[in-house]
Amino acid sequence: MTNATPEISLFDALHSTPARRYLKPDPIPEDVLWAILDAAIRGPSGGNTQGWGWVVVTDADVKRQVAEWYREGWERAYGSRRDEIMSGGPAGQALGVQNFLSAEHLSQHLEEAPVWVIPVLRGVAKSTSPRAGSSIYGAVQQLMLAARAYGIGSTLTSLYLGHEDDVKALLGIPEDAATMALIPLGYPARGRWAQPKRRPVEEVVHWGRWGEQRAREA
Ligand SMILES: Cc1cc2nc3c(=O)[nH]c(=O)nc-3n(C[C@H](O)[C@H](O)[C@H](O)COP(=O)(O)O)c2cc1C
Repeated sequence: MTNATPEISLFDALHSTPARRYLKPDPIPEDVLWAILDAAIRGPSGGNTQGWGWVVVTDADVKRQVAEWYREGWERAYGSRRDEIMSGGPAGQALGVQNFLSAEHLSQHLEEAPVWVIPVLRGVAKSTSPRAGSSIYGAVQQLMLAARAYGIGSTLTSLYLGHEDDVKALLGIPEDAATMALIPLGYPARGRWAQPKRRPVEEVVHWGRWGEQRAREA
């Protein structure tokens, strides 16, 4: 099957790629996956070392097993605080109830996403550098934007990480490498390509030195 290169302006995509967690199980054509991955690997890495690998997971048994591990992480991080979050307690205020419900949905249906991509970075398994991920997360975002261009939703997830060693063993990932995320991909079943809600740009930009802020000219 051939899928024409989609047309969406770069800025439209940048402003309309929220986490999409309600996904249909419909398969993603392989040529589309290649196009998305080929866009991802155009991203930057220090010295252009490209110490990465991109594991594409579609096997139902693998997904079922990792989804169980993910749900353990979900339960630890959020599930056990469901009531507090739903009643607008501090944890709920940060995440938001809608976001919580969508994240809960994903945790319960992770294995139904037709494709997962697990970006892997070599040489960082033991790293304590806060910048270790900088040689892959730009490319990860390119993957998510390229998916969006094809109308495919994604979310960067991490709650499987309590089982990092198990995931590595299951997928044969080299010892020196780390999984950097698990990105479920699928055509959206619900929701919109809404602009992600963020604090206003004027509030987070500092001009010249920290604390020097300006209003944005219209
Ligand atoms: C480091 C990192 C880890 C994340 N882990 C998860 C996760 O395990 N599960 C999940 O549903 N979303 C996860 N997210 C997605 C965030 O919740 C999401 O990016 C954030 O709420 C903003 O969502 P929005 O772009 O739709 O506004 C993660 C995002 C990042 C950057």
